[in-house]
Amino acid sequence: MAVHEILRMGDPRLLRRAEPVARTGTPELDALIRDLFDTMHAAGGAGLAAPQIGVNLRVVIFGTGEVLTRYPDAAPVPPTVLINPVLERLGQEQDEDWEGCLSVPGLRAIVPRYRALRYRGLDPSGQPIDRTVEGFHARVVQHECDHLDGMLYPMRVRDFSRFGFTDVLFPEGLKPSDD
Ligand code: NI
Repeated sequence: MAVHEILRMGDPRLLRRAEPVARTGTPELDALIRDLFDTMHAAGGAGLAAPQIGVNLRVVIFGTGEVLTRYPDAAPVPPTVLINPVLERLGQEQDEDWEGCLSVPGLRAIVPRYRALRYRGLDPSGQPIDRTVEGFHARVVQHECDHLDGMLYPMRVRDFSRFGFTDVLFPEGLKPSDD
C-alpha cells in the first residue's frame, strides 16, 4: 500500500499534457494503479488522475462505492481504471452541478459539463472499455480526463458567485465529495 501526496493547484505538474501509456500489463503500470486506488481511498475521493500524484501518464481511476452516500441522487459509477481515454460528447447539452477536487482542497464550484458522453480506453489488462454514459458518471469522467490535459475544474467555472469554501457553502448540509 502506498498512499502518495496529492499535488495541489499551483503545482506546475498539474498543468502538463500527460503522455499516453505505451504498454499495459507491466509491473510499473500495475503498481501505479494500486497506488492511485490507495491514495484515492485514503483521501475519500471519487476519482483520481495519475498527474495528481506526479505521474505524467494518461491514467485515471474513478468510482463511487461508499462515497455514494454523499451523492444520494447519483446512479452508481462502477470502480474503473481508464487508460489512454478518448472522450466524445453526445450532443451539446450541458448540466451544471457542484464539483470538488482533491487538488483543490476545501473548495467547491458549480461547473458546466456535457450531459452525455461516450468514452473509450483500455483497462489494466489492455481490454477495450467503451461506455455511453450521462449525468454524474459523465461528469466524473470529464473531470478526471481534464487532469490529463492540465485542466483543473476552476478553469471551467463560468459563474464565480458559485465558487467557494465547502464549509461556508454547505454549513450543515450534504457535502459533494472531492473528486
Ligand atoms: Ni480533480
